[in-house]
Amino acid sequence: MPSDPAGRRWARTFLQVAAAVSLAGCERPLSVLHPAGPSARAIAEVWWWMFGVASVVLVGVVALWLLAMRRHREMDEAAAQRVGVRWMVGGGIVLPVAAITALLVFGAQAGRHQLPWPQVGAQPLRIEAIGHRWWWQLRYPDHGHDLRNELRLPVGRAVDIHTRSADVIHSFWVPRLGGKLDAVPGRTAVVRLQADRAGIYQGVCAEFCGTGHAHMTMTVIAMEPADFDAWLAGGPP
Ligand code: CUA
Repeated sequence: MPSDPAGRRWARTFLQVAAAVSLAGCERPLSVLHPAGPSARAIAEVWWWMFGVASVVLVGVVALWLLAMRRHREMDEAAAQRVGVRWMVGGGIVLPVAAITALLVFGAQAGRHQLPWPQVGAQPLRIEAIGHRWWWQLRYPDHGHDLRNELRLPVGRAVDIHTRSADVIHSFWVPRLGGKLDAVPGRTAVVRLQADRAGIYQGVCAEFCGTGHAHMTMTVIAMEPADFDAWLAGGPP
C-alpha cells in the first residue's frame, strides 16, 4: 500500500469498491453461492473448491513464470530445453490429470444429490415441469394442481422435478435449491430439489429458447409442510 495518507485512502476505497462489486452477486435470488437446500449446497461446495484450487493454480503459474523468466537468462539453450520438457510433462500432463481427477470425484459426489435415488422413509414429492415458449407449466399429477410460472413445494422434503418440453429445448433451474436440467422435447428427465427454509425463491429457463427466453421465469414458494399439505389437499382452484 502507498505510504502517503491520500494514496492509502485511495487504495482502501479501491479495495472496498472491488470487494463490494465482486461480492454483490453472492446474495442475489439467483446466486448458486447462496444455497438454501442440500442439493444446491453440494453444488456451492464444488464451486468454492474449484475457485480455491484455481486461485492457487493461478498464483503458482504466475510465480513459476516469473521464476522461469529469471532463470532463462542464466541458462544456455540446451539446458533450457531439457528443463522445458520436464515442466511440460509435469505441468502439462501430470498436474492437470491429478486436478481433473480430484474435481471429478468432488463433482460426482455433488451430482449424487441432484439425482432421484430411491429413498428410505418419506418419499419425494413428484412435480412435473413442462417448458413452453415462454413459460413454465408446473403440474402435481397426484393432486390435480396445474400452475403457471409458479412452483410450490414443502420445506424439508425432497422434491423430484420431472421435466420435459412442449416445443424447443428449455432448461429448468432454481439456483438456490438445486442443479439445472435440460427440458428436451420427447424426453423426461428428473432432478431432485429440496428447500431448507420457507420462503420465496426464483427459477429461470437456463437455455436460450427464443425471443422470450429472458422472461421465462418462475416464482418458487417453499411452504411449511402443514401449509403445503393444506394447499395440496385444496385441489385445483
Ligand atoms: Cu425456455 Cu429459455
